[in-house]
Amino acid sequence: MPRLGVNIDHVATLRQARGGREPDPLGAAMLVELAGADGVVVHLREDRRHIQDRDLILLKETVQTKLNLEMAAEESVAKIALNVRPDLVTLVPERRQELTTEGGLAVAEHPERLQVIITLFHDSGIPFSLFIDPDVNQVQAAHSIHADSIELHTGPYANSSRLKEEQAEFENLLQAATLASKLGLGIHAGHGLNYQNVKRLTQIPEITELNIGHSIIARSVFVGLDRAVREMKALISTPFQSQG
Ligand code: PXP
Repeated sequence: MPRLGVNIDHVATLRQARGGREPDPLGAAMLVELAGADGVVVHLREDRRHIQDRDLILLKETVQTKLNLEMAAEESVAKIALNVRPDLVTLVPERRQELTTEGGLAVAEHPERLQVIITLFHDSGIPFSLFIDPDVNQVQAAHSIHADSIELHTGPYANSSRLKEEQAEFENLLQAATLASKLGLGIHAGHGLNYQNVKRLTQIPEITELNIGHSIIARSVFVGLDRAVREMKALISTPFQSQG
């Protein structure tokens, strides 16, 4: 059964909407852990649209499970990560105007762009993961530059509107996870996962961690954070049964 990392960025999004102090992502981190999350995920974006530097420092002091910091492969944020020392750094591509992370890193095309940052993390002993599309070339490239783990981008799977399309995207994830497992990489997955589409991914046992944010925080508005996390945890903890 995969571990559940809960991304709490959107708790901070709500706080930033008024520029005040509530709701506090620190409280959210404690609640998701109490509800059974195996880790807390935050993205310190260059434009600081939700999580702030102070949140990250306090989360490092508070999180008892695992703190996974998503960040762009950019030196100013890397310096912060090196000081705070999260349990894992996940490198993601970042474009200023995007609503959320839009695609995986182009590791196969531009491995040199990641080299400086990767060397910094290697030297400091902080494990890092690369957010990539479910593509065997990207998996191979991530292995070649000595990533500890990969996070497979599940956005295309999650957004597929037809069964045939979903099947093709699922097979891409399966193929990428199978290769990554053979290469000895840690395998995580995330983006766009919700209470309807997550269960099928439990058919890929190579995926050991799912990182989920928006759907959990959205549901928590109606049912509370505790119940929203418990319901997601229950979904990924019970075996998938085909609907015939
Ligand atoms: N994984 C990565 C690398 C992401 O950038 C995000 C979004 O911040 C997520 C997982 C979570 O995606 P969602 O909010 O759609 O569940």
